[in-house]
Amino acid sequence: MRHLIDIKDLSLEEIQELIKTAKDIIANPNKYCEKCKYKKLATLFFEPSTRTRLSFEAAMMELGGNVLGFSEANSSSTAKGESVSDTIRVVGCYSDIIAMRHPKEGAPLVASLKSTVPIINAGDGGHNHPTQTLTDLLTISIEKQRLDNLTIGLCGDLKFGRTVHSLITAMSRYKNIKFVLISPDELKIPEYVKEEILEKNNIEYVETTDIEEHISELDILYMTRVQKERFFNEEDYLRLKDYYILNKEKIKNAKKDLCIMHPLPRVNEISTEVDDDPRACYFKQARYGKYIRMALILKLLEIK
Ligand code: CP
Repeated sequence: MRHLIDIKDLSLEEIQELIKTAKDIIANPNKYCEKCKYKKLATLFFEPSTRTRLSFEAAMMELGGNVLGFSEANSSSTAKGESVSDTIRVVGCYSDIIAMRHPKEGAPLVASLKSTVPIINAGDGGHNHPTQTLTDLLTISIEKQRLDNLTIGLCGDLKFGRTVHSLITAMSRYKNIKFVLISPDELKIPEYVKEEILEKNNIEYVETTDIEEHISELDILYMTRVQKERFFNEEDYLRLKDYYILNKEKIKNAKKDLCIMHPLPRVNEISTEVDDDPRACYFKQARYGKYIRMALILKLLEIK
């Protein structure tokens, strides 16, 4: 039985296979509409979500399966003190596969040790968000037609942004990738990401606080929101939340085929005036999330 806890749980070949399946689902949805008949996906969300939970649920429905679950910890027996391990053992009696989001880093890994069904990490604290990364890889593969030879700007909250950590981990395995890490000093990428991923793999990167300094070099600009829920101090959040606001002026020197991404939700970091720019890919990215999750469900349930 396979789980997906960290993007590194998948080899490059497996990621390629998932991307290929997702593209085939986009082209031939009818081929897949009964693949998960009689199967059930449980979505256990101990933390709020719109895209991840609903795209997982839509994915299972479009595969002909059913969904059950909860969207907040307080509506489950967690509120009575039940442990994650016990919850998982019980939900495994009612479902074939579980997608789980939890505010505690490592909770999905703990769950996977006790589970009788595959566990998918749908985001754990400021740690990892592997299915967002699969979504990002599918988006890049479709919009740029390649996953190598890319200069990728990551902008915003690089400290707490779990999507950023997972994306750096994933992209570091492709050839000729360069990162431009754009953040306020207080929200720089954690040292462990620099040391264990970037430096260990000899990946070229620069750090800057200025979003316009390298804009003309970028193939991808990945914007992120400042993660309010991870701050201990409201004052710090208020000071940093609008540090970057991407608008038309800021992308005037960018490449014509720049791909602007954002895992969403957006707060203020991309002005709505950018939404009509052909380079804005973030709503397409949200749509691609459903297809790659369909491919992942099929893989973990070992359905051809
Ligand atoms: N991108 C993402 O994880 O969005 P949600 O928090 O809405 O699931």
